[in-house]
Amino acid sequence: MHNIFRPMKINKMIISNRFIRSATMDNLGKEGMVTDKQIELYRKLSEGDIGLIISHGLFPTLEGQSSKGQLGVHTDETIASLNKLVNAVHENGGKIAAQILHGGFWVRPEVAGFQPIGPSAVYIKETGQQVRELASDEIHELVDSFVQASRRIIEAGFDAVQLHAAHGWLLSAFLSPVMNKRTDEWGGSPAKRARLLYEICKGIRDAAGPEYPILVKLGLQDYHEGGKSLSEGIEVAKIIESASVDAIEISGGIEKERGYHIRLNCTQPYYLQECSMARKALSLPLILVGGMRRLQDMQSVLDEGIADAISMCRPFIRDPLIVRKFREGTTDYSDCNSCNLCLEQSRKGNIRCMLS
Ligand SMILES: Cc1cc2nc3c(=O)[nH]c(=O)nc-3n(C[C@H](O)[C@H](O)[C@H](O)COP(=O)(O)O)c2cc1C
Repeated sequence: MHNIFRPMKINKMIISNRFIRSATMDNLGKEGMVTDKQIELYRKLSEGDIGLIISHGLFPTLEGQSSKGQLGVHTDETIASLNKLVNAVHENGGKIAAQILHGGFWVRPEVAGFQPIGPSAVYIKETGQQVRELASDEIHELVDSFVQASRRIIEAGFDAVQLHAAHGWLLSAFLSPVMNKRTDEWGGSPAKRARLLYEICKGIRDAAGPEYPILVKLGLQDYHEGGKSLSEGIEVAKIIESASVDAIEISGGIEKERGYHIRLNCTQPYYLQECSMARKALSLPLILVGGMRRLQDMQSVLDEGIADAISMCRPFIRDPLIVRKFREGTTDYSDCNSCNLCLEQSRKGNIRCMLS
């Protein structure tokens, strides 16, 4: 029997138990900087005995900003601001990672002030935007932007960094054959499509040193006709494992499509198959997200060796103290029913659970 409340080591970082708060966009930032409401939110989360809290996705360049309330890590001025989030969590003995999220295809000019960018030029029906194809030298510059962003994350005091490479955002768009049609060194075979992610992981590792924890949230398959298959996703996972990534959070799907990662009304773990396949191919720690609601299910995932830690998002919007309640034995499930109304609230900058 695996004890879900046992500490876990991810490179030099030791987290107190196997529960992780998955990255959650709160849209509470102002002009890319941390607000008092966010400090309050993170303080509350840190009172709940969560092993590791992952911040919402921070934009590494202005071109990557996908919503008005998103926090940035694009300049050195953000360091002192981000440090306030770190302090709010550290003061209660918690650990916090920063996620880097470049919006890519999903960026809207009225938010970012830029045309969306991606591996290939394409028209996006949902947003009515024409995506601009990145030139090869711009992709090299992007690698450097991510490395600089992680330097700022380290200087701000975060315990770890996580790269968002899932759901169709920029890094995962490069991984996907439906979004990446390039024929140069950044497209074609799975290894070439994974090159951007690999170079960023390696760049961060070289800059951060061998001990700093680097995590990746990876979409293992696209659930889209002609999209990245599970076997290709696992190939990508192996490639980034070879770039000394310390843990992978398993996710999947493209925003708003079949296999959507914020699955409506789903209260069962839904990436079990992907994670089990990945487990057989990889030796680094795996984190499973999506539909975790019952303590018994989470315990089974660990007992069966499918993953090493459990990640949740919506249950913490419902109740930031749910892990503490699990530990104290006052409940053994989250009553979040995955209605997704919190998502709408987040878009309005008023993130909260709408269940009574
Ligand atoms: C309001 C909201 C905001 C989210 N923001 C992010 C984000 O910034 N980065 C990310 O990787 N995933 C984000 N997600 C996805 C979650 O991290 C998680 O992968 C997904 O909700 C499935 O987990 P759950 O069933 O525990 O909610 C968000 C989800 C919700 C509901």
